[in-house]
Amino acid sequence: MKSLRFVFQYTHKYTGVLSLTILSMLLLVGVQLYAPWLVKSMIEIATDSAGGQDDLGRITQLALLALILYAARAVLQFFRSYLAHVAGWNVVADVRSTVYQHLQRLSLRYYEDKQTGQLMSRVVNDADLIEHLIAHAVPDVIANSLMLVGVIAVLARMNWKLTLLSMIPVPMIVLAMQGFTKYVRPAFRARQSILGELNAALNDNLSGVREIKAFTREENELSRVGVHIAGYRDSTLRALRLMATFHPVVAFATSLGTVVLIYFGGRFVLGETLAIGGLVAFFLYLELLYQPVRALSGVWESVQQALAGAERVAEVLDEAPDIVEKPDAVELEGRAAGAIELKDVGFRYSVGDIVLEDINLNIQPGMVVALVGPTGVGKTTLANLIPRFYDVSEGSISLDGFDIRNLTIQSVRQQISMVLQDVFLFHGTAGENIIFGRQGATKEEMINAAKIANAHEFIIRLPDGYDTMIGERGVKLSGGQKQRIAIARAVLKDAPILILDEATSSVDTETELLIQQALEQLMVGKTVIVIAHRLSTIRSADLIVVLDGSRIVESGTHEELMGGDGLYKRLNKVQQEIDPQTLS
Ligand SMILES: Nc1ncnc2c1ncn2[C@@H]1O[C@H](COP(=O)(O)OP(=O)(O)OP(=O)(O)O)[C@@H](O)[C@H]1O
Ligand SMILES: [Mg+2]
Repeated sequence: MKSLRFVFQYTHKYTGVLSLTILSMLLLVGVQLYAPWLVKSMIEIATDSAGGQDDLGRITQLALLALILYAARAVLQFFRSYLAHVAGWNVVADVRSTVYQHLQRLSLRYYEDKQTGQLMSRVVNDADLIEHLIAHAVPDVIANSLMLVGVIAVLARMNWKLTLLSMIPVPMIVLAMQGFTKYVRPAFRARQSILGELNAALNDNLSGVREIKAFTREENELSRVGVHIAGYRDSTLRALRLMATFHPVVAFATSLGTVVLIYFGGRFVLGETLAIGGLVAFFLYLELLYQPVRALSGVWESVQQALAGAERVAEVLDEAPDIVEKPDAVELEGRAAGAIELKDVGFRYSVGDIVLEDINLNIQPGMVVALVGPTGVGKTTLANLIPRFYDVSEGSISLDGFDIRNLTIQSVRQQISMVLQDVFLFHGTAGENIIFGRQGATKEEMINAAKIANAHEFIIRLPDGYDTMIGERGVKLSGGQKQRIAIARAVLKDAPILILDEATSSVDTETELLIQQALEQLMVGKTVIVIAHRLSTIRSADLIVVLDGSRIVESGTHEELMGGDGLYKRLNKVQQEIDPQTLS
């Protein structure tokens, strides 16, 4: 019921189209109901015939009428099937957009334990199933129910006793439907969920094709994906087996009507309470009675499928984003000064231990703050709290004196540029990937940003310069080039706060120098939080914060910390031993 309500909240926009569909169906029912009557009339004329011109004329009239009726039926059938799909696919498109928008609103926490392929499957495959519900189920249920009522009415007028007798199978059909519902919907749901797994496995495999080749894992991966391919086949067959049992049960039950009619109809004709013409018409109408019954049992199948899909789509929409904007959130107007304060901040992910505790940091506008510490200590996590990718579990973070939870999410994020270690480039041109930093920037601004990021030189050497497609994940670029595109993006965004997470990790010394220069340009006049593993790059920071065991263990300038005898000095010593050049 809940899933039905969910789908029907999307249909009222298409009431017009759906009403037209239903109207065509009603007319179709009328035409269908009238057709056997023609046969009956024909038989009556023929059997009572005095053989005059009159009767011949009436037969011709009947034939013409039949021709017109069937022509009308053809036109109506077109409208019925096309219009229903217009409504259906429009609803699916609306549902899909809504789900997509909702996915965009959901916080990173939601994505932590979700596979991309699984989510795609809900947006693509499950949403598709809803079409059946709109295009087939709604008009079919309405038209076939009317057809049933109409046929029963006509039959009852002809002979109510026979009518009652021929309805004997109906309760059987209803019982069968109820019995099967218990198994069919879960079977279809299982099938959709396995399809999601198959999508996820494929997505994972195709994204990791390089790793698979490098580790010659083709065979193993084939069997890993193969499990899902076979699983999808099996679950589909399971659902189809149920349906394949259900349909003959319905067909058998309906044919009992014919059995009843042969027996009683024959007796009534023998007893002369029914004419031959009446019995033939009765048989034809009986076919019309069971046509909607069969159609309804087919509809019932697509409804079960559609509801299984709708349930899975609705689950995504039921998911509430955990980073929500307060109704009275304030817009942070203009350009922030860039003061950031963390007060008694504590944080933990949905699973696992406390990652950060008792973090107190007061960052003045224009300061360069470096976060250092052993791997896994929570540096990236701390950086992610500032743009509110996650909310703090304890304490508070403020921007220019406002608790960021009291500001609109957009106005906070607009103040922050991030350059992350794992750069993601979208499928598009180099230029588009830079413009991504600030929509509406001019070409000059974009090129200027690329120059500052030391990216211009290599971009103009690409086959089409800024118009070169750099592929789904920028596969044609090197790690260092990708990073410089990411920096150009950040330059273009020109936000007052800059977060750099190990921006110079995967590059050679020369590229690192280029990137370092680019970053220094980018850092001018901004509040900067930089996470670096190479301590040489952060010597000039205004404040170095050393994290260990989820807490801040020391902080100060390079000189201050080197003067002490803490973790920073030890880390420096170790790095100097491993890589003397970088620190000398
Ligand atoms: N999405 C997540 N869900 C659960 N735990 C997480 C998540 N991301 C990180 N963690 C855990 O939180 C801790 C801190 O991770 P974080 O990425 O902040 O470390 P880091 O200091 O940036 O490490 P590195 O120097 O290696 O980049 C780690 O123990 C990690 O396993
Ligand atoms: Mg990190």
